[in-house]
Amino acid sequence: MNKKGFIFDLDGVIVDTAKYHFLAWKKLANSLDIDFTEEENEQLKGVSRIRSLEKILSWGNKTISEDKFTELMAKKNDDYLSHISNMDDNEILPDVPRVLDFLIEHRQPISLGSASKNARTILERVHLKEHFDTIVDGNDVSKAKPDPEVFLIAAKLLEIEPAQCIVFEDSVAGVEAANVANMISIGIGSEDVLGHATYVFKDFTEISNEFLESLIEN
Ligand code: BG6
Ligand code: MG
Repeated sequence: MNKKGFIFDLDGVIVDTAKYHFLAWKKLANSLDIDFTEEENEQLKGVSRIRSLEKILSWGNKTISEDKFTELMAKKNDDYLSHISNMDDNEILPDVPRVLDFLIEHRQPISLGSASKNARTILERVHLKEHFDTIVDGNDVSKAKPDPEVFLIAAKLLEIEPAQCIVFEDSVAGVEAANVANMISIGIGSEDVLGHATYVFKDFTEISNEFLESLIEN
């Protein structure tokens, strides 16, 4: 059987944490008198913590000291961690376990490719860590998505050529990173936002086992 590398983003693909990132960033932005909308949040999906805060400050035309910047990053993460502290298997997005189990059954190498430094904690909390052969997250990269570094490291660890890898992503930056890495990108979300992906599905319930099989075989 063919072997492909299947790389999953975490936030917004495996678990619905995007809403918690939104709440935490909104609280922080508003505390600085900066407005923060759903549209702006869309632009932060897949974007590293540092880069996200830089963007919010630039949208609000604010400059702050380095110490304050560090303090705000910690504050946002503490708030975010309080949101995810009660997470359990119920927050796994629909049909993600079916897709992972199908790939495991078909002996396909699977990696996480996430910008989050909290990825391991979350995977443990929802009991999915053991499903992954390798985990590459925000602690392992120096360049954030849309740079392809995270996915290229994952491919290397899986020992699969980038062109033989398939990336599941919900963010504009992540789809771009997968495309730059010369991988097949599967957007999870709306066609309007992720039109640059090779394929787009609303969620995993739309991804059939036959489709997965065709990805493995072709
Ligand atoms: C990405 C999220 O997966 O991880 C972003 O889409 C987030 O919203 C980024 O900023 C970094 O996450 P964390 O958990 O390290 O702050
Ligand atoms: Mg994501």
